Order: sequence, then C-alpha cells, then structure tokens
Amino acid sequence: MSTAEVARSAARLRQAWGARQPQVAVLLGSGWAGMVDGLLDTVDVPYAELPAFPPLGIAGHTGCVRLARLPGAARPLDVMVLMGRQHAYETGDATAMRGAVQTVAALGCPTLVLTNAAGSLRGDWPTGSLMLRSDHLNLVQRSPLQGLGGSDRFVDMGQAYDPELRSRAVQAAAAESVMMHEGVYAWMMGPQFETPAEIRMLQRLGADAVGMSTVPETIAARHAGLRVLAISLMTNMAAGLAAQPLSHEQTLKAAAAHEQQAAAVLRAVLQSLVD
Ligand code: HPA
Repeated sequence: MSTAEVARSAARLRQAWGARQPQVAVLLGSGWAGMVDGLLDTVDVPYAELPAFPPLGIAGHTGCVRLARLPGAARPLDVMVLMGRQHAYETGDATAMRGAVQTVAALGCPTLVLTNAAGSLRGDWPTGSLMLRSDHLNLVQRSPLQGLGGSDRFVDMGQAYDPELRSRAVQAAAAESVMMHEGVYAWMMGPQFETPAEIRMLQRLGADAVGMSTVPETIAARHAGLRVLAISLMTNMAAGLAAQPLSHEQTLKAAAAHEQQAAAVLRAVLQSLVD
C-alpha cells in the first residue's frame, strides 16, 4: 500500500465523517465484536472502499471501518472501529495491516487499541482472562516495515505499549470489577497452533500469552507515531497445558462466551484513554 492509497483512504473516511474526529481507534479481533453493540451515530465504510485496507478472508471477520459514539460517556467520544484484520499467516505478508494503521495516523487519531484472542501460558490465567500487553516477543522476526526506506524505520520499541495508557486501562478494568493481567505476548506465525514443546520454550522465554496477530500492527503503529495499547482475551490454555485439542471453532466458541465482559471492559478502557 502506497502513500497515495493511504491518503485516498483517509479522504474517503473524512468524506463519510464530515466534521467528526475520533480520538481513539480500536482494531477488533476474535472475541471483541460485542464492543460495537449499542454504539451510537454509526457511520460504516467497507474496507473495499479503502484502497490501503486489505481484503479479508477469515470466517467471523467482516471488513468495515465504523465511526461511532460511545454510549454513556461523560462527554461525547467518537471512536474509529476497525472491524477485521488480515493476518500475516493468510499470505505470509506482515505488511497486511500497515496501510490501515497508517490511515488511522493520517486522520490525526493519536491512539490505537489492538485486541485479539490468545492462548494462555499461565496456569493461573484461565480461559476468559484478559491480558494487557506490557511487551512482546516477535519470534516470527518479520516486520511490516521491511521494504521501507528512511531512517525512521529504525523504530524504538523500548516502550511500544504506552505506560500511561496502560495504567489508565488497568484502573478502568478495576472500576468494572474485572482483573486485567499484564504480561508478555509472543507472536507466532501460525496458522497451525503451537506444539507443547514450543509452548514450553515460550514459557522459558518469558511469554505469558501466545497468538498469531497484532505484533505487526504495533510495529506499524509505532512507526506511524501512534500510541498503542493491546489487550488479549484468553480463549484457551496453550498447547499441552490442557487436555482438549485446540481448534479454531473452540477458540471462537470461547471468545463468544466471554464477549460481553470483554466488550464492557473495552468500552471502559476506551473512555479512560481520553478522559
Ligand atoms: N495459539 C496461537 N494463537 C491463538 C491461540 C493459541 O493457543 N489461541 C488463540 N489464538
């Protein structure tokens, strides 16, 4: 995706939005779609009308950008909801969401909240637990910035997940009486699940959760100057940590079971980021 495609995508969204300006963007992964329930004054633009955005191929994901007002906010808050991602495992391309992330930045929206489903590496964090990301392991060793020029591609990843936003998010979850764990996320390429030996390796490397997304988006977002927050919903215990075999169906089922709580926490977190 080129700079011109990002500019055209931003222009199309501005045209749909008029004078409204979102202060925060959120990318919804598996288990997080409930967040859009009850949103007000929605305006949808399909990814297909946005040249910097990818086509989507996975069941349960629909591609559209929804501008919406959060209900119950102390003051009106417009959020930009990215409904659906293309994963690196679909094409082998880690740049899949770069254009979408750059479009968020081009629109002057300063913050991107990433959500996904993940496997838990912690016996004390069962299915349904939420983890705010403190850091990540890019074990895939791929980057959405590969192929770009310029010295700004050498992005500092020292505080990729914004400390101030994280502390707001933890407080917002506590106010909802929900425990928000904090931990390290390991990105694995997939689409196959990990082996039990790989999970033991990840545990030794200091990971608390494992998944197949969001790390490329974080890197692209930091490159674009966005502040980033990432939250994972644990949809299963990782390979070898529970008796049952892993499957995408099981992941989606667990995600659906915890969707309402995740949605409530996410809304509270979004509100806390701009208060
Ligand atoms: N591994 C990788 N990705 C995942 C998992 C997992 O166990 N659960 C949800 N996404």
